[in-house]
Amino acid sequence: MARMARSRSIYACSKCGAQQAQWHGRCPECGAWSTLAEEVVGGNANTGANLLQVEKRTGAAKVRPLRDITTDATPRIPTGIPELDRVLGGGLVPASVVLIGGEPGVGKSTLALQLAVGLEHQGPFLYVTGEESPEQVRLRAQRLPRIPEAMLVLAETRVEEIAGPWRERDPKVVLVDSIQTVHTDRAESAPGSVTQVRECAALLAATAKSHGAALILIGHVTKDGNLAGPRLLEHLVDVVLNFEGDRGQAFRLLRASKNRFGSTDEVGVFTMGATGLEGVANPSELLLAERQTGTAGSCIVPIVAGSRPMLVELQALVAPAGYGTARRTSIGIDDGRLALLLAALDRCSDIDLVANDVYVNVAGGVRIAEPGADLALALALASSRLDLPLPPDVAACGEVGLGGEVRRVARLDLRLREAVRLGFRRVLIPAGAEEVARAPDDARVIPVADVGAAVAWLRASVSGKAS
Ligand code: TYD
Ligand code: MG
Repeated sequence: MARMARSRSIYACSKCGAQQAQWHGRCPECGAWSTLAEEVVGGNANTGANLLQVEKRTGAAKVRPLRDITTDATPRIPTGIPELDRVLGGGLVPASVVLIGGEPGVGKSTLALQLAVGLEHQGPFLYVTGEESPEQVRLRAQRLPRIPEAMLVLAETRVEEIAGPWRERDPKVVLVDSIQTVHTDRAESAPGSVTQVRECAALLAATAKSHGAALILIGHVTKDGNLAGPRLLEHLVDVVLNFEGDRGQAFRLLRASKNRFGSTDEVGVFTMGATGLEGVANPSELLLAERQTGTAGSCIVPIVAGSRPMLVELQALVAPAGYGTARRTSIGIDDGRLALLLAALDRCSDIDLVANDVYVNVAGGVRIAEPGADLALALALASSRLDLPLPPDVAACGEVGLGGEVRRVARLDLRLREAVRLGFRRVLIPAGAEEVARAPDDARVIPVADVGAAVAWLRASVSGKAS
């Protein structure tokens, strides 16, 4: 008789999932502080098992020459949500596992319901809710333009209980909202713990793979990443989608950080309204809708998300600091990039920011991950410090290097076209790039070599002497 393995304690990091034999104040893997928590690992954890006890396809393993393998065979199920299809790379792949992560309140459950509407004609859709009652799910669905009437709702937190309905109803899609609320008998630790989340996800994923249903897992992520989140499950799933946005604002971005069946640089854009999520075909127009011209500290930058250009407004507020170290707060922009820009401005221009508090924000709750917004941020900072508003028809894009030099960015022509389409007539660009990027129509590009030149241009623009 096989001896039952003894339960033992390990310490797992809730951020990256790494396991340690001892407790550490700081995770040796990812460097996060106070994220290690004790977990009991049972002896009966069984990776690779699935809920339906379906035998994995057997038969002789088949070897094929690479030239005979075609790639156009991946079948896709269109989700009925064009913005989601765009990010998935054309639709949901049967027997694949998709993880949708996001902060609470961003709209994950709403997206799940709208997905059920879109997939209604594809076959049964099983919605497992560990978080809300079926009545709550119904209430939310009633706000949407269409209710996924045929969607099957199962309020359950024990993963093993899903097996029955799964076998009986033979769903095309199974969605679990959320992976942190379900638990399995195979692991002994509490729901939401690293071991539970990983075991449940592995079990569900193996089941989906052998059954052929597409599996969608919803995962919570907190701002400080303190809940067992997507990073932990990345290797278990085929696609990781991150749903971003500020819950106080309508704008939402859906990005893929991993996609086995498509590219990871497409972005889906939504707004959350009174009747659920709506796809946005023209993000720039929406993002600029609330812009006020004539205020200092604001600059427009054309960024590129995937294949799509977007105009966003960067806002900066520079104010005299009180006692002690000056504050630097940025929302939507990496702290490191802000620090770099402040140093570059200090070095290459006469803008003095050292003794000032600096606040930076990207309007609309967008997060900018590309360096192409550097020049616009430098201008926004200078504009606030000097209390000189930029002319309303000006946009800027370019990366700023450590020496303060303005460097070229990818897809400049695409950015210029978008800026001009929305009525901007002058765009500051990196010096030298004007040879490759032509401004369409009657718009003009203004090449600048470094941040010092950009600040000089800003000053001159006010006295009407700027080009
Ligand atoms: P929800 O999908 O529950 O978010 P999550 O599952 O990510 O926690 O929805 C979050 C917010 O969206 C909630 O505060 C209510 C709001 N909301 C709308 O504004 N319009 C709607 O039509 C719906 C369904 C929700
Ligand atoms: Mg939810």
